[in-house]
Amino acid sequence: MIDNTPPDRNLALEIVRVTEAAALASTQWVGRGQKESADGAAVNAMRSVLDVVAMDGTVIIGEGEKDNAPMLFNGEHVGDGTGPKVDIAVDPIEGTTPTAMGRSGAMSVIAIAGTGSMFFPGPIVYMDKLATGPEGVGAVSLDLTPRENVVELAKARHCQTADITVAILDRPRHGELIEEVRAAGARIFLIGDGDVAAALLTALPSSNIDMLLGIGGSPEAVIAAASLQCVDGAIQARLWPRDETEKQRAIDAGYDLDKILHTSDLVNSQDCFFAATGITDSELLRGVRTHRDQAITHSIVMRSRSKTVRTIEAVHRVEKLKNFHLMA
Ligand code: FBP
Repeated sequence: MIDNTPPDRNLALEIVRVTEAAALASTQWVGRGQKESADGAAVNAMRSVLDVVAMDGTVIIGEGEKDNAPMLFNGEHVGDGTGPKVDIAVDPIEGTTPTAMGRSGAMSVIAIAGTGSMFFPGPIVYMDKLATGPEGVGAVSLDLTPRENVVELAKARHCQTADITVAILDRPRHGELIEEVRAAGARIFLIGDGDVAAALLTALPSSNIDMLLGIGGSPEAVIAAASLQCVDGAIQARLWPRDETEKQRAIDAGYDLDKILHTSDLVNSQDCFFAATGITDSELLRGVRTHRDQAITHSIVMRSRSKTVRTIEAVHRVEKLKNFHLMA
């Protein structure tokens, strides 16, 4: 539902500079096979711009634990300390492998929401996920089989199962899921990486993706939840421990492993802000282009309260970026 309160400050328009900076800083590492250097450059760029945004932010979802990469630490305070108290979820590079390998599908992403609103997945690295656009809300469920979800979504969209396209991360763990979805008559859009973009694309009219299914990163589920709130889409997720040790750690910490976490369990806020900037090309965004003394970025900027979705193409002067140490 759209909130009709009068216009006020839209933090998303400020935080897009954060993802632009991270994308610009990481672009020099595209195709160089060095994930950690790329992540380090993106983290440093992100932090330097975050610190000039007028907000009192706490990083709830930082990135890096899974890959031993440099981090914006969970619990770290960012922003200039004035302005609203907010929770922050960042993924300086969503798609470190495509960045390092020079493949498509990498972007820099940030989500901001009211303080105390973001779910912290603790020791659980992965979640089982199901995301759709608005038509899927109330029709699909993680408690149903993949076949049932394809059928229910087709019914809700008044189409055939053959018209449904499901994005799934191309991983050995998804072999059975892929077979089941194909057997239900749906098409599969296999993604190498980047299930935040895939989740968001389920709710964007410009995309052919109708549903995201499968196991992906927990931080990415929280970020996807913030993005989907801006476009009336929805995500369901269930914690998916990798082994008995991780499972026990989660149980000891009080997590319920059976519970379906809905969009508002992952981000419980009436005012979410989301920004992402392409690093390499993807279904969602174009990657950074450099041409002589200019670098061009392509970003999506959204707010849940107004449901405004903007795309921004920005032209940056390389000389200025060098002065700010965003480019070498
Ligand atoms: P990173 O760049 O942080 O590694 O994330 C990329 C990604 O593809 C996510 O979009 C996805 O949720 C996760 O990795 C899946 O994890 P894995 O590659 O371990 O299957």
